[in-house]
Amino acid sequence: MTRECTYAVAPNIAFIKYWGATDLDSALPRNASISMTMSECASTTSVRCLEPGQPDEIWLAGIDGLVAAEGAFRDRALAHVERLREYAGVDHGLAVATRNNFPAAAGIASSASGFAALTVATLGALDKEVPAAELSVLARRSGSGSASRSVMGGYVQWPDGEDAEGPAVQLAAADHWDLRDVVVLVQQDEKKVSSLDGHRRAPSSPHFERRQELLPDRLAAVRSAIDSRDLAILGPVIEEDAIELHLIAMSSRPPIFYWLPASLTVLAAVRRLRDRGVEAWATLDAGANVHVICAPAAEEAVVAEMENLDGVHGVLRDRVGSGPKRLDRSLFAVTSS
Ligand code: PMV
Repeated sequence: MTRECTYAVAPNIAFIKYWGATDLDSALPRNASISMTMSECASTTSVRCLEPGQPDEIWLAGIDGLVAAEGAFRDRALAHVERLREYAGVDHGLAVATRNNFPAAAGIASSASGFAALTVATLGALDKEVPAAELSVLARRSGSGSASRSVMGGYVQWPDGEDAEGPAVQLAAADHWDLRDVVVLVQQDEKKVSSLDGHRRAPSSPHFERRQELLPDRLAAVRSAIDSRDLAILGPVIEEDAIELHLIAMSSRPPIFYWLPASLTVLAAVRRLRDRGVEAWATLDAGANVHVICAPAAEEAVVAEMENLDGVHGVLRDRVGSGPKRLDRSLFAVTSS
């Protein structure tokens, strides 16, 4: 049996957002969603098999070594380890060490990459060959629905209705369309309201049901834009859907304000870029940081425009990525040396 396995898994940025669930415990969405898996941001997770009888361990790997995870993250990670152990039919403990190379819980899908990485690394450590479709279903059952999309690269759709319990599906591989995602950081600390609470409150917004009516056309437009690599079709639709997610959040009861003043500054700068003929479109997940989606030729202009705005702490240059990567190095070894 393999005793240890490490994977780096990227978050994904949703073009059409999952927002609101029919069953939150199993992460069954009210609507279908489509995302682009990223490449440079990553959650790296090592999972090591322990001797029978040893309890599970969850560690955060930082520059000073391993620190025991606490709170809600620890509870969710332990529950998912238990779920995967049952799936694999083993009964020994597992040690998990994980780290992100980007700010967590601030609108870059750290729960998607974190739980997708935990899923693939655990099954790798247990030497289970699991097809991507099954990994997607297992990752979703962590409670982070968007994790179902991060186990695949490129452009990915997670269906709704009866198909929501099944896997996410790759619409196109990463090499189909080289899109860039300039992540504009206006928030370094964690958001105050989790996306789980956001999903819970979403149906209380008077705008929630109206979005459901608009989504079939939006999903079709995004699929067609991906198919034909047409940013002029994709851009307006993804910006509209992101603004609507936040409209719903702000009008939920009680309301949720994920944006910071600098989020608006960035949204205005994106519109200014377009006025100058630079094709760039904004989207935000449940956080204040803004993802600016553009073609490779526009990336420098986007970065130059964003870097010096008031309230911007920095930018991350990301792009479409090809999915989970197995690594030779271990977070247990790296951090104890
Ligand atoms: O997967 P969750 O429960 O963290 O929710 C994700 C919610 C959004 O990031 C806002 C949208 C999405 O589809 O990724």
